[in-house]
Order: sequence, then structure tokens, then C-alpha cells
Amino acid sequence: MSKTLSIANFKGGVGKTTSTINIGAALQRLGKRVLLVDLDPQFNLTQSLGISEPTQPIYGALRGEYALTPLPVLRDTGVLDAIPSSLELIKAEIELSAEFKREEILNRLLAPLTPQYDYILLDCPPSLGLLTINAFVSSDDIYVPIEAEFLALKGYAVLNEAIGRIGLSIDKVFITKFDGRKILNRNVSDTITHSLGEAAFKTIIRENVALAEAPTQGLDIFRYAPRSIGAEDYRNLTNEITARG
Ligand SMILES: Nc1ncnc2c1ncn2[C@@H]1O[C@H](COP(=O)(O)OP(=O)(O)O)[C@@H](O)[C@H]1O
Ligand SMILES: [Mg+2]
Repeated sequence: MSKTLSIANFKGGVGKTTSTINIGAALQRLGKRVLLVDLDPQFNLTQSLGISEPTQPIYGALRGEYALTPLPVLRDTGVLDAIPSSLELIKAEIELSAEFKREEILNRLLAPLTPQYDYILLDCPPSLGLLTINAFVSSDDIYVPIEAEFLALKGYAVLNEAIGRIGLSIDKVFITKFDGRKILNRNVSDTITHSLGEAAFKTIIRENVALAEAPTQGLDIFRYAPRSIGAEDYRNLTNEITARG
């Protein structure tokens, strides 16, 4: 059974792309067939995987010019493929808004690919626009990375309410970029864990410079720094994800 997961938050810089890549890479190392989809016009995921100037980025597929075209990233234990993005995707929000069933375009395009993958991870842009709604409509689960900082829970509540209004809900939250030396980080993370209970993953992704360095080499954390705490944290988070079935 294939599972499609959205990694989303209307805030930028919270670790959506880092999480998409490294959860995907961890799943691939478990022997899974994984597809990563870059839905952000800033194409950070595409760049972080070392893909440059893709000939068939997601934008053209959303416009109906060609089918979604996965590029191979890694083939060893499992499969890691990616559908790249490009700057032009910025136009999609407006152009697609006039389309028939505009919230279901991505879902329709992904349908023929789902039998080929165990997991499809959608890296969402930092907004609740049409691209993110398309991701949500295509997803079995919505996962939200948050930083343990001031107003984090307020941000979560706003996002949850907005998602609720379109008849969906956040499945799980996880804390990212956690710095145990910061009292604020510790306090907020305790509050999040207490008030969200089961809705929060137990694994907390700690701040780790290797996680920021890996994409500059076009690598995931397991190939860049397999013994780092970043690798450890994403391995643990991924184990929680696979344990959910
Ligand atoms: N756990 C972490 N520790 C250190 N740096 C991180 C961590 N997670 C993400 N980063 C860095 O923070 C920045 C924002 O992360 P990114 O994944 O691009 O966020 P988003 O996709 O939500 O905008 C990037 O420079 C990334 O390398
Ligand atoms: Mg991103």
C-alpha cells in the first residue's frame, strides 16, 4: 500500500524541506520505494538534491503539458526518486485557480505513480495556497514540523483551524531545530508535548549543523554524516512514521 504524506507549515524555515529529504532518505534505506515531490517555487528540495535545470519540472505537468516525471536520485537498498520544481511554479497559484477541480490536479497526476512507490512525500511551499491544498487533497496524512519557539502553539492552532475549514486535519506535529541549551526551546517543547499528546511525534529533531551542510553537497544526512545526531533523529522519526502503518 502506498502512502502519501504532506510535510507542511505556512511558515518558512521550519525544516519542511530538510525533513522531506531526510525522512525520504531514511525510508529508502529501509528498502522502501520513495518519491519526493517539490511543490515549492523556491525549489529548495530540487537544489538540495543537486538537481539543476530539470527539463520537466512539476510546473509543466500541473499545466497538462506532460506527465509527472520522476528523476532517479538513489538506487541501492530502496528507491529514491524526485519530481523537481522551478521558479515558474510561482505562476501556478494564479493559473490553476481557473481550472476545473483545481484542488484535485495533483492527485489526478499522482494516481498512475502511486503503485510504483511505498511512500510519496510532498514538500509544501510556506503558504496555504492552491499548491498546498493540492498536496493535502492528495495525502493520507499531513505532518507539520514546528520550531519550539514563542507562539509556536498559536501558529499550530491557526494552521489546524485553517485546515479544518477545508474538512481536513493535521495528523502529527514534530519539533525541529531544537536547541536544548535554550530555556525557551525547552519550555515551549514541554508545553507542545504536553498539550498535543499523541498528536506530537516523540522524536524531536535537534539543531545539527550537518543537517544544514548536507544539501550544499547535494546529499541527505545519511550519506553526508551518517553518525551525526541529525541522522539519528531522522532515523528515529522515520521509525515512528513506519510504525504507524
Ligand atoms: N535540525 C536542523 N538543524 C540545523 N539546521 C537546520 C535544521 N533543520 C533545518 N535546518 C536549516 O534551516 C534552514 C531552513 O530549513 P528548511 O528545511 O529549508 O525549511 P523550510 O523548508 O520549512 O523552509 C535551512 O538552511 C536548513 O538547512
Ligand atoms: Mg522548504
